[in-house]
Amino acid sequence: MNLHSHYIPIFALVGLLMSCASEGPLGPVEPVLPAVTPAYRTEVAPMFGVQFPSHFDAPHYDDRAQLGRVLFHDRMLSQNGAVSCNSCHIQSHGFAEPKALSQGLRQELTERNASHLANPGTQFAYFWDGRANDLTTQVTMPVENHVEMGFRSLESLVDRLRELDYYAPLFDEAYGDPQPSVDRIQDALSTFLECMVTCRSKADEALAEAMPEVWSPWSVLNGEIELNGLNSLERQGFELFHGNAQCASCHGGPHFNGWGLDFADIGLDESPSIAGQQPLNSGGFFGGWGPTAMKVPSLKNVALTAPYMHDGRFATLDEVLDHYSHGIQDVPALDFRLRDWNNASTGLDNGLVIDPLFPVIETGEAPPVRMNFSNEERLALKAFLHSLTDYAFVQDERFSNPFTQTP
Ligand code: HEC
Ligand code: HEC
Repeated sequence: MNLHSHYIPIFALVGLLMSCASEGPLGPVEPVLPAVTPAYRTEVAPMFGVQFPSHFDAPHYDDRAQLGRVLFHDRMLSQNGAVSCNSCHIQSHGFAEPKALSQGLRQELTERNASHLANPGTQFAYFWDGRANDLTTQVTMPVENHVEMGFRSLESLVDRLRELDYYAPLFDEAYGDPQPSVDRIQDALSTFLECMVTCRSKADEALAEAMPEVWSPWSVLNGEIELNGLNSLERQGFELFHGNAQCASCHGGPHFNGWGLDFADIGLDESPSIAGQQPLNSGGFFGGWGPTAMKVPSLKNVALTAPYMHDGRFATLDEVLDHYSHGIQDVPALDFRLRDWNNASTGLDNGLVIDPLFPVIETGEAPPVRMNFSNEERLALKAFLHSLTDYAFVQDERFSNPFTQTP
């Protein structure tokens, strides 16, 4: 069978699937769904800024999200039935995959580490380089990506779904019409992702209790409010993160992702392997960051999402902390927030105001910061990062695999 043929008719597809005996039965198994569609919206404290803007009042919102759940876990969304979205975005790993790079439909490797999914509805840019800014159209990009899911066009995905009996009733409930279409697939998948709200970790609950309305970590730092829900080590980690270790200058905001719109080169390599590539996130608002800058990822569920960084180079949080502690390379594009301006040889130490909203991109002579964490600081930072794990989210049945086949 020629796997590269542009269109595989459904009978050939079934033959192909049956021939993959070593991978277990991969045929179009029916999804098993609850008798009553659950409510998909999760109401959270206003401080989290989680809104449901695009589809909030849409009729059958929950049915659309549920259809998205089925699509997300369906291997038939890849051309040869080998992978689904959750092959690379696994719920028990915070919707990341515990591999540096992931295998797509023909065992080819993805170029980058599979992103974890944490409140995707609150972000303004998607992918490590921020090349997509609209969730509704982003969700089907993997389907057409030749490494990931390999469909020639989204129209051929629509044809595929027409052949699968279980979709007609699901589209009917969600859109009052049994026909799949590109728009409806995108709407259902993005509605599902929008509903993936993770705000119930130990730290989330402590923060929501302490500052339900407005995000103000500085009120904790200056002692105005107390974070009673965290133990003393976790609290110390929170204070370091937002204070001396300056993690929050990038990973700021209630999702610890720079409010979903920040990029930085954190000096991973002396000569980054991606140097010279087109500046994917250049232009517009993100113009200043340059081609080697990567999206500041959310740190929610970070204890589950190893390995770390855009290429999965660090296996553990300790390796990540080693990097920030003493491993930052002095590359020209190193983010100004990771330079030690107090040791600048340019005289910039006298009063440079570092305001993340109005970054002054300095490439001057200040060396990379050396935070040289003590053991205690390291333990505190790690304890805080672990307190960001939302166990309810990674066990929530609404986001789980409805197919009886193993993921
Ligand atoms: C073969 C593995 C693979 C499959 C299958 C896959 N993804 Fe991904 N996904 C990735 C990788 C790798 C990235 C990061 C790519 C990059 O940044 O260049 C990613 C990134 C994303 C992001 C961006 C997240 C962020 O915070 O920036 C979203 C959203 C996403 N995928 C959704 C999906 C959906 C929906 C599907 C199914 C239609 C899917 N993915 C299928 C590997 C995969
Ligand atoms: C200058 C901005 C900046 C600062 C300051 C910063 N980070 Fe990051 N962080 C990033 C970016 C950008 C990435 C992704 C980099 C990449 O993959 O190339 C990242 C990645 C990470 C990751 C890996 C996440 C994942 O999903 O792979 C962790 C963990 C992390 N940072 C923790 C911290 C901690 C702890 C601190 C403070 C000691 C900190 N960061 C300071 C910008 C920053």
